[in-house]
Amino acid sequence: MKKISLIHGPNLNLTGNREPSIYGRNNLESINEEFRKKCEQCGFECEIFQSNSEGAIIDRIHSAIDNCDGIIINAGAYTHYSYAIRDAISATRLPCIEVHLSNVHAREEFRHHSALAAVCAGVIAGFGKNSYMLAVDAMKGILEND
Ligand code: DQA
Repeated sequence: MKKISLIHGPNLNLTGNREPSIYGRNNLESINEEFRKKCEQCGFECEIFQSNSEGAIIDRIHSAIDNCDGIIINAGAYTHYSYAIRDAISATRLPCIEVHLSNVHAREEFRHHSALAAVCAGVIAGFGKNSYMLAVDAMKGILEND
């Protein structure tokens, strides 16, 4: 069975509580639960991780190399400036999908740029928790064409 690594970056542990008008009222555990179900329906195993630290996120990306078939990542604000996370994604040679709860392009200028997008298969942003579920469908399309 193919396996997806889902990685949530900084502040996403506060989802549900933090700026609910932007990020929604669902907490991370309920999003993760729906994500697990979605993976099951699509015939994937998954593992889920959240960290507020750049190094821990990078270690988790590295651990996917021998362990997973694809990565779905919401790197939070690191998305906009972390060349280290970008290099880690690139080093895995695994398909990666960048996800955001909010429509980053409709927000502040600094959120319009992604340091990660160029090494990802694609970006899904603006659909709230459904961004993660749409990413599983997108990953299915990628992995079935393998
Ligand atoms: C986010 C968007 C980022 O700009 C922000 O820093 C986050 C969350 C999102 O899911 O919409 O922490 O990645």
